[in-house]
Amino acid sequence: MKLSSAIFVFLADRAACAVFSREVSSVDYNSAPPNLSTLANATLFNTWRPRAHILPPSGKIGDPCMHYTDPKTGLFHVGFLHDGIAGATTDDLATYTDLMPDGRPSIVAGGKNDPLAVFDGSVIPNGIDGLPTLLYTSVSYLPIHWSIPYTRGSETQSLAVTYDGGRNFTKLSQGPVIPSPPFALNVTAFRDPYAFQNPALDSALNSTQGTWYIAISGGVHNIGPCQFLYRQHDAGFQYWEYLGQWWQEPVNTTWGNGDWAGGWGFNFEVGNVFSLNEDGYSEDGELFMTLGTEGSEAPVTPRVTSIHGMLWVTGNITKGDSVAFTPTMAGFLDWGLSSYAAAGKILPATSKASAKSGAPDRFISYVWLTGDQFELATGFPKAQQNWTGTLLLPRELKVETLPNVVDNELAREPLSSWRVSREESGQVDLQTMGISIARETYDALTSGSSSVEAGRTLSEAGDVAFETSPSSKFFVLTANISFPSSARGSDLQSGFKILSSELESTSIYYQFSNESIIIDRSNTSAAAKTTDGISSDNEAGRLRLFDIAQNGAENIEILELTIVVDSGVLEIYANGRFALSTWARSWYANSTDISFFHNGVGEVTFGNVTVFEGLYNAWPQRK
Ligand SMILES: *[C@@H]1O[C@H](CO)[C@@H](O)[C@H](O)[C@H]1NC(C)=O
Ligand SMILES: *[C@@H]1O[C@H](CO)[C@@H](O)[C@H](O)[C@H]1NC(C)=O
Ligand SMILES: *[C@@H]1O[C@H](CO)[C@@H](O)[C@H](O)[C@H]1NC(C)=O
Ligand SMILES: *[C@@H]1O[C@H](CO)[C@@H](O)[C@H](O)[C@H]1NC(C)=O
Ligand SMILES: *[C@@H]1O[C@H](CO)[C@@H](O)[C@H](O)[C@H]1NC(C)=O
Ligand SMILES: *[C@@H]1O[C@H](CO)[C@@H](O)[C@H](O)[C@H]1NC(C)=O
Ligand SMILES: *[C@@H]1O[C@H](CO)[C@@H](O)[C@H](O)[C@H]1NC(C)=O
Ligand SMILES: *[C@@H]1O[C@H](CO)[C@@H](O)[C@H](O)[C@H]1NC(C)=O
Ligand SMILES: *[C@@H]1O[C@H](CO)[C@@H](O)[C@H](O)[C@H]1NC(C)=O
Ligand SMILES: *[C@@H]1O[C@H](CO)[C@@H](O)[C@H](O)[C@H]1NC(C)=O
Ligand SMILES: *[C@@H]1O[C@H](CO)[C@@H](O)[C@H](O)[C@H]1NC(C)=O
Ligand SMILES: *[C@@H]1O[C@H](CO)[C@@H](O)[C@H](O)[C@H]1NC(C)=O
Repeated sequence: MKLSSAIFVFLADRAACAVFSREVSSVDYNSAPPNLSTLANATLFNTWRPRAHILPPSGKIGDPCMHYTDPKTGLFHVGFLHDGIAGATTDDLATYTDLMPDGRPSIVAGGKNDPLAVFDGSVIPNGIDGLPTLLYTSVSYLPIHWSIPYTRGSETQSLAVTYDGGRNFTKLSQGPVIPSPPFALNVTAFRDPYAFQNPALDSALNSTQGTWYIAISGGVHNIGPCQFLYRQHDAGFQYWEYLGQWWQEPVNTTWGNGDWAGGWGFNFEVGNVFSLNEDGYSEDGELFMTLGTEGSEAPVTPRVTSIHGMLWVTGNITKGDSVAFTPTMAGFLDWGLSSYAAAGKILPATSKASAKSGAPDRFISYVWLTGDQFELATGFPKAQQNWTGTLLLPRELKVETLPNVVDNELAREPLSSWRVSREESGQVDLQTMGISIARETYDALTSGSSSVEAGRTLSEAGDVAFETSPSSKFFVLTANISFPSSARGSDLQSGFKILSSELESTSIYYQFSNESIIIDRSNTSAAAKTTDGISSDNEAGRLRLFDIAQNGAENIEILELTIVVDSGVLEIYANGRFALSTWARSWYANSTDISFFHNGVGEVTFGNVTVFEGLYNAWPQRK
């Protein structure tokens, strides 16, 4: 069985190579694309494939999960759904090594507990017998969706242990350790168990220090989305005590007016629970979560089609009859319509990667960029591409403080994604969740050749071409943009046009009228005109630039942009607290120009504009 499947994979790889060598002559990126769905399988394998991102050698990637740092080796393990759950290790958060040959999975469906599927799981690094132990959702009935009645017994939580450094997770020969949702609850889902430790919960619940907890995501029909909390009962991780629905939101409601975190939807998924301080992870830090919301189309914001939200939230833990979590602020971990199902894990200072870079304890999160699902653009030429989806770059999360903010109504908006942490004579400090590319990853991305573009001050509408544009579609663009005070509330739009030629371009700009970073994809891809499933919808995310008090003057906060282009993958980071990612599938080989973009009234200064070209190959050991 094993042997024949190995031969199959080998032959398939050969086939892919043969097809690939035909591709060079059959696909011409200097002339208009045909309907790409009519091309031979795997012809588009390299067309939009990223180099520096995490994805399997071929096929589809799903939710990230099963991450952990191996206490024995210090290697960080990154997992993801891929015909089961597959994984890779890294000692530098830049390059990765597949755990199994050809990126095959480390655990697959088909056992007694999981005849149909293995869904997301999380790892207790020192689990059963001190070995990394996976607690995962074992699936027995499908379909499962919040909008249909739930089949009893669909999702249970089971254990598997690795005895070989994470290559194979061996299922325990026994039934599930959490065999059903809580008594008599008509759930919408009961999955994605996230194991964590938390001293604040220990003291609120009078638990033994270092007790493990599990947050399971889901919801209850007609009541709302929620998170179910469990506590470890025994040293063998066999029994888990139910502590209640510690967080429940009313069905189909929003955080505040929906502007800053959209809606809670009908069902929660992939809830991660962790604690942060201003350096990164701290067990005594403030409790944060990341979570996916389903059916969460925010009623008040005209987001195009997304029915999912990739959010973060922080809040208070209170102890009444049971322990409860109440949100105090919430925001988007990524605003992209295709960004979902983030999974993170503690990366201790003692890990190999952190020991090399000198980083403190961190919480590192990977977001999934779905290749085919959430933009409702169906018909993408999947067989021609031969892979679907990717994980986004690893992100460090922390508590981010913005000092010297003018104390006005912009800073004081309630139920937003920030809070006032200090106030003094007309100024406040604001705090929010910080989101940035992991430092090692950023350093690797920007270590290639770089060119500094002279700063510009623009006041006329129009594009101004860069003196030096990249020659490839693998680069990072960083820039600081300063705006006049008159920009607030005006029609000003300012940013860059990238992946640009006479025939294609993608505009990325800040728009003051609704405080948004917008990616205009209407002219991104000539292929969108000939081929189904290539979305041209705009992407947008909301970022408030506050008024900053500086030497007696009040200026609009500088927009600090980092734009990563990794072939078809586009990630935008801003001001240490904003991320928006999507696909930008340009077609023509010469669509690589960059220009400054300016529209509306106002004088804008672009400074510190740098292009780092080349990126790096995240998979040096793959052929
Ligand atoms: C870019 O390529 C397109 C398609 O081949 C061509 O029409 C156009 O002239 C090229 N532009 C430049 C500046 O070479
Ligand atoms: C495409 O990918 C699938 C899944 O990884 C693989 O089985 C198949 O052989 C590939 N096809 C080609 C033509 O490369
Ligand atoms: C893991 O090992 C077990 C026991 O040897 C084996 O039955 C199973 O097929 C292996 N799983 C994978 C995904 O290779
Ligand atoms: C659970 O909720 C669904 C959807 O509202 C409903 O169709 C079903 O009858 C409910 N099941 C039970 C056992 O109450
Ligand atoms: C806390 O736990 C300890 C030891 O398990 C027990 O002796 C004590 O009574 C508990 N206190 C409360 C307030 O439950
Ligand atoms: C959810 O709320 C929105 C806005 O209030 C409403 O338009 C929509 O119909 C609701 N959806 C359902 C399924 O109740
Ligand atoms: C959260 O706790 C803070 C500090 O105790 C308190 O001021 C605030 O009102 C609480 N918020 C909620 C929503 O419970
Ligand atoms: C092309 O890929 C599709 C979908 O994976 C598969 O059904 C079909 O058999 C493949 N065709 C060839 C010629 O390999
Ligand atoms: C951009 O501006 C910020 C804030 O003024 C500054 O900290 C940062 O160093 C600037 N970026 C570059 C690349 O100079
Ligand atoms: C492209 O070709 C596919 C497969 O033949 C077809 O189903 C689809 O309708 C075509 N799309 C366009 C936009 O012509
Ligand atoms: C801001 O407005 C634009 C249209 O000008 C829209 O596309 C975008 O979605 C809006 N931003 C947000 C965050 O909804
Ligand atoms: C960033 O731009 C400012 C203003 O143009 C300049 O003073 C500073 O030296 C630049 N920093 C870097 C790192 O280039």
